[in-house]
Amino acid sequence: MQIEADLISTIANFSRAGDLNNLIFLTHAERVAHISFQLGKLLTLSQQAINELVLSALLHDVGIMTDEEQLHLADLEPEANRISPHCRRGYRLLQTTKAFRPYAQNVLEHHNYHSTSLRIIPAIIHVADRVDILLNKNRYSLAQAEGIRQYFQGKAGSLFCPDVVEALQGLARIPSFWLDLEYRNYHFVDNTEDFKHLLTLDELEELANLMAILVDSKSPFTGHHSLGVTETVSLLARKLNMPEDRVRLVKVAGLLHDIGKLAIPDEILMYPGPLSKEQRAVMKQHTYHSYHLIKGIGPQAEQLAGWASFHHERLNGTGYPFGLGAAQLEPEARLMAVADITQSLFEARPYRKGMSRDKVTKILHNNVQAEHIDPDLTDLAIAHLNEIEELVNASAESA
Ligand SMILES: [Fe+2]
Ligand SMILES: [Fe+2]
Ligand SMILES: [Fe+2]
Repeated sequence: MQIEADLISTIANFSRAGDLNNLIFLTHAERVAHISFQLGKLLTLSQQAINELVLSALLHDVGIMTDEEQLHLADLEPEANRISPHCRRGYRLLQTTKAFRPYAQNVLEHHNYHSTSLRIIPAIIHVADRVDILLNKNRYSLAQAEGIRQYFQGKAGSLFCPDVVEALQGLARIPSFWLDLEYRNYHFVDNTEDFKHLLTLDELEELANLMAILVDSKSPFTGHHSLGVTETVSLLARKLNMPEDRVRLVKVAGLLHDIGKLAIPDEILMYPGPLSKEQRAVMKQHTYHSYHLIKGIGPQAEQLAGWASFHHERLNGTGYPFGLGAAQLEPEARLMAVADITQSLFEARPYRKGMSRDKVTKILHNNVQAEHIDPDLTDLAIAHLNEIEELVNASAESA
């Protein structure tokens, strides 16, 4: 089974998740892609180089793990030791994939100061990134254009590549360049056909795995949850004798099920206790984001989005975020809910230990009784609780 993806909007979409919770960085990745694209054209880069530039720009901050790290980047000329961790982490993450490995080096170098050996793509992303940081989002952009232009003029050849600064001088004189940024008319693709792509299952899994690692490393107290749910849900899918291709799609859904947590602020995601009522309400948004982020992969991704993100929906219609009922919940989505609950109960939290099999069984039964989860699939999970517990322990050790 293959899913047609518009690779660039998939990445733009996923990159938006991490930028959603911070006003300074709202749509930062797309803005940097927009600025980079305009600079690349003025510098008459080849079409192929521009495509590489835009994808690298969308991915440039993929290594940011915490809101604090992100805030350091809001300093105009941040200290090297504060910024290099996210560059190195981004590089390592992308290196683990086949599809995004070609962009890893650009991500590694995107804060490097000018030198004769620095390649043009990271040099452009560096300037584009600083333009977006310099731009105060609470003021009209046209009033700031001249100041920003002068700042870069003064740093050409020292901090920034002179060729890129020269291109920016031209761009900065065009009012619509600033207005497009201010009013979010982003443009970074001329020919969308260049990025239309049939994602193979391998590629889809690779991408999903990358996102799962990001989600899990942003959640220190449940640092192996995505991978654990994935193991559990694939085990149960196999026990149901689903065809192997379907099992793998269920696995992808497991990897992506909490991707929306990237849009939840650290202070809630990393809160070391039971959440308050208000915090819980914010946390509940995560599956809403998961749904839309996954659906954005492409026209056939809607079903996958459902399998992944309906895991807090309940058969009797009392779940969230869509309030769906039994008729709308496919077996794969029901399986995800069972896997998510089972995995969560086995996992330790800062304020409680992981639960015993007896306790887990009891809570699962209670959930069935309350018409929250599927009775047959719950029985299946209970019948294999030993194996699931082993998986949970194994993924906790490897995390
Ligand atoms: Fe950065
Ligand atoms: Fe950035
Ligand atoms: Fe969740």
